[in-house]
Amino acid sequence: MENTPVERKKRVLSLIQPTAVPTLGNYLGALKNWKNMSEDYDCIYGVADLHALTIHPDPASLRKQSLEMFALMLSVGLDPEKNIVFFQSHVHTHSELAWILNCYTQFGEASRMTQFKEKSAKHAGNITVGLFDYPVLMAADILIYQADFVPVGADQKQHLELARDIADRFNTMRGNTFVLPEPFIGKVGAKISSLQDPTQKMSKSDPNPKASISLLDPPEVILKKFKSAVTDSEAVVRYADGKDGINNLMAIYSCCTGKSFEEIENEFAGKGYGDFKVAVAESVIEELRPVQDNFKRLIADKAYLNEVAKNGAQAATRISQRTLAKVQKKVGLYMP
Ligand code: TYM
Repeated sequence: MENTPVERKKRVLSLIQPTAVPTLGNYLGALKNWKNMSEDYDCIYGVADLHALTIHPDPASLRKQSLEMFALMLSVGLDPEKNIVFFQSHVHTHSELAWILNCYTQFGEASRMTQFKEKSAKHAGNITVGLFDYPVLMAADILIYQADFVPVGADQKQHLELARDIADRFNTMRGNTFVLPEPFIGKVGAKISSLQDPTQKMSKSDPNPKASISLLDPPEVILKKFKSAVTDSEAVVRYADGKDGINNLMAIYSCCTGKSFEEIENEFAGKGYGDFKVAVAESVIEELRPVQDNFKRLIADKAYLNEVAKNGAQAATRISQRTLAKVQKKVGLYMP
């Protein structure tokens, strides 16, 4: 045993934007996996408040939502004694690395990002350079910690690919510097859809409140929203092409109960959509109950949250500073 090298635990990193209370999509696609991975990996999780600036949120709302998002991250069960949890803006190394990575990113590849195209269509009067550069900052978030895995929903896959391409280019030009990160995308739950238009993803910014479940929705609101979810006219609970609404409800139910699609089909054989919708709603209410209870307690304890944030920022700065120093040296910045 003496000669066995001590293996470094694989490192996991992910961030979430504090643009609104997170949805069930954010939870099932990302936050739940963050918690599951937090026991076995060396994990770093953050509030992407710098990313949120791209669409000019109201400053007071951003401040409030950022703290709420931080409290929610702890509420889903991330133990700050075992994981690093922090605010992106408290760790200056991200922005510094992002500038250097800008100089290793082609304009053409950044222009191909579908989220940039979608968001610039949505905010046609406010297409900032920040919105365009967003995926490079995201690459810096990941690469600065030498992350092995990045748990995200399917919508972030293209950004992950860009981060790998930038890392690979830098490694080729300047010598091995960055670990190439792998996306960790769950099999079920990676793309939770809107309850009103199941061809679209469930999104924090959807103006129709019936389309998404917020993690802080009270039980009666959750039940009402599921009861009004758009389905189809077949009235058979089965997973199939063209049944987007039912497929989505089955994915949600599967994530919350651990049941397979086959088990769900058997459970609801001969029953109507009404029974199924109520069962899905109840499984979500039970899943979110401890999160909501923890949130109520934590959001009332600002001193504790500030202390956790301070410790998180210190730990994240320490780790990320090592990568930044290496990169600064490799690109030729004079360091006395
Ligand atoms: P954001 O804040 O939009 O979403 C946070 C996480 O939730 C996932 N997600 C979903 N998963 C399943 N179904 C949905 N309907 C759904 N909607 C959102 C997202 O994929 C994401 O994992 N750019 C990122 C934040 C970010 C980041 C990073 C992520 C900044 N830096 C570094 C990973 C690594 C974003 O806007 O996520």
